[in-house]
Amino acid sequence: MKGAGRNGVWIVTVILLTISNWVGRVGPRPADGEIAIPTSTRERLQTVRQVLTEVPLIDGHNDLPWNIRNFVHNQLGEFDFDKDLRQIAPWSKSAWSQTDLHRLRQGMVGGQFWAAYVPCESQYLNAVQLTLEQVDLIKRLIEKYSQHMQFAASSREILEAHASGRIASLIGVEGGHSLGSSLAVLRTLYQLGVRYLTLTHTCNTPWAKSSSVEQEDNGSGGGLTGFGKAVVREMNRLGMLIDLSHTARATMRDALRVSKAPLIFSHSSAFAICNSTRNVPDDILKQLAANGGLVMVTFYNFFVKCGPDASVNDVAEHIYHIRNLIGVDYIGVGGDFDGINKTPRGLEDVSRYPELFAELLRSGKWDVLDLKKVAGLNLLRVLRQVERVRDEMRTAGVKPSEEFLASPDTTGNCALDINSVQRVTEV
Ligand SMILES: *[C@@H]1O[C@H](CO)[C@@H](O)[C@H](O)[C@H]1NC(C)=O
Ligand SMILES: *[C@@H]1O[C@H](CO)[C@@H](O)[C@H](O)[C@H]1NC(C)=O
Repeated sequence: MKGAGRNGVWIVTVILLTISNWVGRVGPRPADGEIAIPTSTRERLQTVRQVLTEVPLIDGHNDLPWNIRNFVHNQLGEFDFDKDLRQIAPWSKSAWSQTDLHRLRQGMVGGQFWAAYVPCESQYLNAVQLTLEQVDLIKRLIEKYSQHMQFAASSREILEAHASGRIASLIGVEGGHSLGSSLAVLRTLYQLGVRYLTLTHTCNTPWAKSSSVEQEDNGSGGGLTGFGKAVVREMNRLGMLIDLSHTARATMRDALRVSKAPLIFSHSSAFAICNSTRNVPDDILKQLAANGGLVMVTFYNFFVKCGPDASVNDVAEHIYHIRNLIGVDYIGVGGDFDGINKTPRGLEDVSRYPELFAELLRSGKWDVLDLKKVAGLNLLRVLRQVERVRDEMRTAGVKPSEEFLASPDTTGNCALDINSVQRVTEV
C-alpha cells in the first residue's frame, strides 16, 4: 500500500509537470509586469515609453563634448543645451549635431556615457591635458544643467539618477592615447569618475593595436603588449569598464583573454551584417558572451549598411543577428550621436530611440523583458559585475600596478624626458 501510494503520488506529479510544461509552451507568453504585447504602432510606442520609465535607457557613446570644444572652445557660457539646437548656429548648420536636452528627454534617454575624446594627433603631445579638459567640461555641463543631468559613476548612481528623473551622466575616455602610457594617469582618471576607457581610437598606442591601422593578424595575440595587459588588469582592479570599440581583432582577443571582468563594445555593430573593421565578428561576439560582456549596437550608416543610407530596420537587423548568435543578454545601444554625420532614417537624433525599440517589438519575437535588457538591464549587470571584480581584488589585497613603459612617450619632442633631467641634477 505504502509503495503503491508513493507511486501514485509520483505518477500524479509527473502528469501535473507534463501538463504545466505543455501549457507553458503553447499558452500565451507571459508578459513582464502588466504590459501586453501591442499590435499597433501607437500601442508599441506606448509600451516602449512605459518600459523606458521603468528601466533607464543607457546609451554607450555620445560625442557632444568634442563638438562643444570644436564649436565653442568649451565655453559653456555660449552653449544653451536646454534650447532647440536645430535652431541655433553653428549647431543648426552642422551634420554632426544630433543632441540637446529637449530631444534627450523626448528620446527618454535615462543614462548616457559622454565621451571624453581627444584626437589621435595629440598622442605623445598634450593628449593627457586635453583629456582632463574634456572630463572637466563634462562635469561642468552636468553641473550647469543639474535639473536634467546627474553625474553617475556606479550602477547604483545610475538608478538613483533615473529615479530622480535626471539623465544619469557617465564619462568614458575614448582612446588609450589619453593615458600617455601611464597607469598613474589611468588611476587618476578613475578617481575623476571616468568609468570606461576605449583601449584605442584610430591610432595604435605603444601598447594596443587599433582597427584603423592595417595589422597583421595571425589569430594568436599581438594586440596588447605586456604593458597593455597590465592596463587591462589595472582596469579590473579599479572597476573601470574595458571598451573594445575601435580596437584591432588581436586586441579584442588579448583583452578577452586577460580580463577578469566582462568587457564592452560601447559603439559597434555586427561584422556579419556589415563588414566594417569597426564592427564585431561572430567569433568575438561568442567570446564576449562567454565572458558576460555587452555589444552596444551603433547607428552610423557606414557601420550599419556599409554605405551612406540606412534605416532603423537596418539597425534592428544587427540586433536580430546578435540575438540569434549569442542571445539577448549581451546587447545594448551606443548610438554615437554627435560623432557621426550620417544617421539612419527613423533614428535621426537622440529623440528617436523609442522608434528602435518599437521596431523590435514589431517583429513579434520580443517581449517587454527583452526590451528592458537591451535598454539598460544588460549594461547594469555588466557594470555590477565589474564592481564585484573590483571588490574581490580589493579583498584579495591586490596592490596598484607599478608596471611602466621602459621608453617614455617623447616622440613628439614636446615632452620633457624626466629621466634625463634627474641624471643632470644628480651630478
Ligand atoms: C603571430 O603574431 C604575433 C605578434 O606579432 C607573434 O608573436 C607570433 O609569433 C605570431 N604567431 C605565428 C604563428 O606566426
Ligand atoms: C567587405 O566586403 C567587400 C565586398 O565583398 C570587400 O571588398 C571588402 O574587402 C570587405 N572588407 C573587409 C574589411 O573585410
